[in-house]
Amino acid sequence: MRSEARVSKRIAVLVSGNGGNLQAILDAVDDGRLAARVVGVVSNRPAVRALQRATTAGVPTAVVEALPVETRVQYDERLRDVVEAWEPDIVVLAGFMRVLSPVFLDAFPQAVVNIHPALPGELPGIRAIERAHAQAQDGLRTHSGIMVHLVPDEGVDTGPVLAVVEVAVSRGESLADFATRMHDAEHRLLVRALVEFIDQPIAQKTHQHLRFR
Ligand code: GAR
Repeated sequence: MRSEARVSKRIAVLVSGNGGNLQAILDAVDDGRLAARVVGVVSNRPAVRALQRATTAGVPTAVVEALPVETRVQYDERLRDVVEAWEPDIVVLAGFMRVLSPVFLDAFPQAVVNIHPALPGELPGIRAIERAHAQAQDGLRTHSGIMVHLVPDEGVDTGPVLAVVEVAVSRGESLADFATRMHDAEHRLLVRALVEFIDQPIAQKTHQHLRFR
C-alpha cells in the first residue's frame, strides 16, 4: 500500500492542443507509476482534445484564452490565479504554446516543468520535430531527441535539464513515422522525469543532466 506521502503530490497541467503528454501523465497516475494526482488542466485554447482527455479522467478543467486587449503579463496573472487555486506542487507545460513571464513563474518556484521535442540547446520554439526531420533529409543530422527541463525564466525551451533522450532520424524516413517515434519517446521520458522529480530534491536533480541517455 502506498503511503500518504507517496500520493500527496499535486500536478497541474497546462496544454494547448492534442494532449498526448497529458494522457501519458494521466495513464501513469492511473496505473500507479506516478505517485501524484492531476488536480487541474488548463488550456489557452477552447475545445481542444486535451480538455476532453482531462474530463474523461475526471480532472477539473479551465480555459484561459488571451483577450485581444490584454498584455502578456495580464494574461499570465489570470492564468496564475486559476492554477494557484488548484494548489499544485508541480506545474507541467505539456504542449503549452505560450512563453510564461515571471508573474506566473515566480508563483511556482522550481516547480514548473516543460517538455520539448529537441535536445538541449537545439530547435527551440514550435515545429521542432518537423525541423529536425527536414534537416535529416538534407543530411544535416542523424538524430534529435527530447528534453524535460525546469522553467526558471522567459527563455524559450531552456532551463535546468531533468531528463534527455536521443531519438535517431534517418534520411528517407517519413515525417509521420519519425513524429510517432518522437511522441512515443516523449511520453515515456516525461513520466520517468516526473517520477524522479517527485522522488528527489531539486538540488540533486539539476546536476543529473543526460541521466536517461
Ligand atoms: C509535444 O510534442 C511537445 O513536446 C511539444 O508540443 C507537442 C504537444 O503535443 N512542445 C513544444 O514544442 C514546446 N516548445 P501534445 O499536446 O500531444 O502533448
